[in-house]
Amino acid sequence: MKILITGGAGFIGSHVVRLFVTKYPQHTIVNLDKLTYAGNLANLTDIEHSANYKFVKGDIVDAEFINQLFQTEQFDSVIHLAAESHVDRSITNPTEFVLTNVIGTVNLLNAAKSIWAGKTSNSIFENRFYHVSTDEVYGTLGDTGLFEETTSYDPHSPYSASKASSDHFVRAYFDTYKLNAVISNCSNNYGSHHFPEKLIPLSINNIKNNLSIPIYGKGENVRDWLWVEDHARAIDVIFHNAQAGSTYNIGGHNEWKNIDLIHLLCKIMDEKLNRAEGTSAKLITYVTDRAGHDLRYAIDSSKLQRELGWKPSLQFEEGLRKTVDWYLANEEWLNNVTSGAYKDYYDKQYN
Ligand code: NAD
Ligand code: DAU
Repeated sequence: MKILITGGAGFIGSHVVRLFVTKYPQHTIVNLDKLTYAGNLANLTDIEHSANYKFVKGDIVDAEFINQLFQTEQFDSVIHLAAESHVDRSITNPTEFVLTNVIGTVNLLNAAKSIWAGKTSNSIFENRFYHVSTDEVYGTLGDTGLFEETTSYDPHSPYSASKASSDHFVRAYFDTYKLNAVISNCSNNYGSHHFPEKLIPLSINNIKNNLSIPIYGKGENVRDWLWVEDHARAIDVIFHNAQAGSTYNIGGHNEWKNIDLIHLLCKIMDEKLNRAEGTSAKLITYVTDRAGHDLRYAIDSSKLQRELGWKPSLQFEEGLRKTVDWYLANEEWLNNVTSGAYKDYYDKQYN
């Protein structure tokens, strides 16, 4: 089988590509990525020469290019992760999010629909369109409760509105055209190769460089953190086993207030950098809150656990320590993604 993975040079996508390339040598994995500021082929150097791996640089917003690629490659299935993913950027540039997350997804759906029309599949995951989405589509929770698969959509940021819209299109293509579509909605991921604009890698980078750690509002917002490799494993299980048209929530059952998470991170960083206890916490700076900032996300992943036997593997403090170790051991990666040096390098190779 030939499986297209979009956004495979990004944070989660690179973990999914690595898992599929190494676990399924019998399948060809094609990674389609535009290599935006967030996408970086240095995330995949360990598998880039594998016989069953191929990279294609391209933009999912370009319908003509996407149609041509599907005609040429005749993909058997798609796992779609390419997206603009940062909420703060969506507040300053919403249109970019509509283009990539909505139009880009519809372009992929159309191309898949066109090459799979009339085909009969031999397995549940052949001619499958797997759309990777977020828990942010459900909006925000109060102090109690969990997002379930049946929770109504109520997005608040341009990012979550664009992801919600793309989810609706995927469901519409299942209902209308019987496309073999599956969706998963996951909570906040953390781990290696996370672009340092997001809370955890930004804070690690700032602490390392003695810069302030910006905490939005009072730091009371709650997120449910999941080890990125556990997300990749969940995608593997869902891709191979889910019924067409189904949805699964993925989460860590691991809720943290931002300020408590940052205090734990500061403690770990003090230890790892041999600094006196309390040194990193002095960098915490409360700043103006994010507009439309959702208070609390928390996922009920019991359907995935019950039906497909998945569960998170890593306890949070252990995962956070592993994440810090990775960033401290990969200073070159951190410097090159923050300076844009990787982008310049790969742009030259692929233009
Ligand atoms: P990311 O920003 O790290 O990576 C996105 C990737 O998509 C990059 O490699 C980028 O180059 C590529 N891309 C962007 N625009 C493109 C375009 N027009 N054409 C082709 N490629 C393009 O994102 P991530 O955090 O790895 O998230 C991946 C997916 O998972 C997204 O769909 C996101 O909504 C979803 N998700 C993320 C999280 C999280 O915590 N990060 C949680 C749940 C769901
Ligand atoms: O819930 C899943 C989502 O998680 C994904 O769909 C998104 O792609 C991903 O970016 C992430 O969104 P968040 O907005 O939750 O992640 P972020 O790391 O930007 O912020 C986490 C929390 O920390 C949030 O409450 C905002 C806060 N924050 C963030 C930054 C960058 C700060 O307090 N200071 C910061 O500098």
